[in-house]
Amino acid sequence: MADITVTEHLLLHQKRTPQATGQFTGLLYDLILSGKSISRRINKAGLLDILGGTGEVNVQGENVQKMDTIANRILLYRMERCGALCAMSSEEEAELIRVSPEFPRGDYILIFDPLDGSSNIDVNINVGTIFSILRRPEGHSDEVTLDEVLQPGLKQVAAGYMLYGPSTMLVLSTGQGVHGFTLDPGVGEFLLSHPNMCIPEQGQIYSVNEGNWKNWDAPAREAVNWFHGCETSDGKPYSSRYVGALVADFHRTLINGGIYMYPSDAHKPQGKLRLMCEAAPLAFLAEQAGGKASDGRGRILERVPDRLHARTPLFIGSVKDVEAVENIYARHA
Ligand code: AHG
Ligand code: MN
Ligand code: MN
Ligand code: MN
Repeated sequence: MADITVTEHLLLHQKRTPQATGQFTGLLYDLILSGKSISRRINKAGLLDILGGTGEVNVQGENVQKMDTIANRILLYRMERCGALCAMSSEEEAELIRVSPEFPRGDYILIFDPLDGSSNIDVNINVGTIFSILRRPEGHSDEVTLDEVLQPGLKQVAAGYMLYGPSTMLVLSTGQGVHGFTLDPGVGEFLLSHPNMCIPEQGQIYSVNEGNWKNWDAPAREAVNWFHGCETSDGKPYSSRYVGALVADFHRTLINGGIYMYPSDAHKPQGKLRLMCEAAPLAFLAEQAGGKASDGRGRILERVPDRLHARTPLFIGSVKDVEAVENIYARHA
């Protein structure tokens, strides 16, 4: 079978969806190009003195890595010029970024985590870029307001990630299933390698940072304990896997099934993960792949963010595994 490039795949889908526009396809094209640039930098990071921290602390209270800044700048530069956006929000930027009037503006809003799992970069472990695309509500005035950006995940028109692992992959949904593409570095194109990705109904792996155990409340402890006692269909205990890069832990969960958990704890009462640039886009992918994403008490995609950097607990993956957690939280309500 002939290789299908991501561009060909998008054009095919664009024909199938009347609401899709050339503007939207152009946006994805520039986003993918940014991902290729980031991937190239990461491949050579150990040779270019771009490992380690910048010495700065970001709006999240985290130490900024040099690669966080590089990935953020690559995305901001290219995406501001893509012509399809009116605003952007990044994990690394405190405020909403409105596209400058010197560039053409479009109807879309891009939210991104430029480099997820960046604390792994020094030890050469997978990192990724997570993105969420929203459409600006109709009937707006000139200047984009924060309220127009603070939309629930249900409103996303597309979401996905680029995973910089042994291969660089793009995993994308425009609301018609989830499709995975692998970068062929020789050709410089993402080629369709994982069409119609589906999360198994139940998995065999749980993924959580158990170092937080002493800070968890009763339902979080009970949820994790549930998986300690869980057995797979052939009587084996669930395995524990935790990369510490959400994008990599999610990618494994998407393919193999199971559950990724980041509950709230005594030090992080709202949870750690960012609703808009981490949880909502991955929740969109999870649901499109037949899985589930919850904050323990309700659907992530229905959560309306009250600010750009709102946080949330996250339980995501196979339907049965996420439902087991929701049942435990319901008993503690
Ligand atoms: P980021 O690198 O974008 O700041 O995200 C870090 C997140 C996520 O990637 C990961 O799953 C989680 O933080 C790991 O947190 P802990 O080290 O607390 O387990
Ligand atoms: Mn960070
Ligand atoms: Mn992240
Ligand atoms: Mn990040």
